[in-house]
Amino acid sequence: MIPIKSLSEIERMRAACRAAAEVMRAVAALIQPGRTTKELDDAAAELIRKRGGKSPFLGYKGYPGNICVSVNDEVVHGIPSKRRVQYGDIVSLDVGIVLDGFVGDNATTVAAGAVPVRVQELLEVTQDALRAGIAAAQAGNRVGDISHAVQTTVEARGFSVVREFVGHGVGREMHEEPQIPNFGSAHTGPKLKPGMTLAIEPMINLGTHAVRMLSDGWTVVTADGSPSAHYEHTVLVTEGDAEILTWLETTPYESKAR
Ligand code: MF3
Ligand code: CO
Repeated sequence: MIPIKSLSEIERMRAACRAAAEVMRAVAALIQPGRTTKELDDAAAELIRKRGGKSPFLGYKGYPGNICVSVNDEVVHGIPSKRRVQYGDIVSLDVGIVLDGFVGDNATTVAAGAVPVRVQELLEVTQDALRAGIAAAQAGNRVGDISHAVQTTVEARGFSVVREFVGHGVGREMHEEPQIPNFGSAHTGPKLKPGMTLAIEPMINLGTHAVRMLSDGWTVVTADGSPSAHYEHTVLVTEGDAEILTWLETTPYESKAR
């Protein structure tokens, strides 16, 4: 059963997602060489608290952070630590908030300084893939249309799609139906309907798609050590184009139309 949100639930989703985007913007602005990933987590915790919200990640299956901070070859679920961001790192932030009973979820990847051209392309293709996925999130389309749009965008440029982690419905719970893989066939899967709220989140590797889990039981890294990028928005399916609930007109590090 894929929840369809009522108008009042949609208003609450808008508020939660706006808050998640605001916290993301503020934490992303703190990324710079010398900062520890724990300092980013502490800042996020305070920003979430000030808005009257809670982190949906903290304590989820025992996860110890308020946000996820994944550096370079770390794909997702990097645990905030004493690790310092270095010049030339790429840093993926995954930030969620529960506000008034609803979850907003978003992720972005920021380069801390100049990076090799192919790494810059990795960030661009992952944003392009997210944009293509959102464009496919139209009522009457199917989940597989989102998956297919993401996968073809990425593979056309020689990058690879992580298989083990997927996007998801989001609302009263952080993870609702449907699962939204970043690979798959068009015209397959559940039909999209107005009122569905979806977290679309391509996780894209510069090398092969294979990943492994570190011994901390959370941090997912690329098997070949290549860099990985992650962008995520929570969107509302409507009768027309999806509404990007975690979009802020002033969101840095990402351009809506390029
Ligand atoms: N945004 C991530 C997701 O959609 C958050 C999960 S991190 C966890 O799954 F620690 F909470 F698992
Ligand atoms: Co998510």
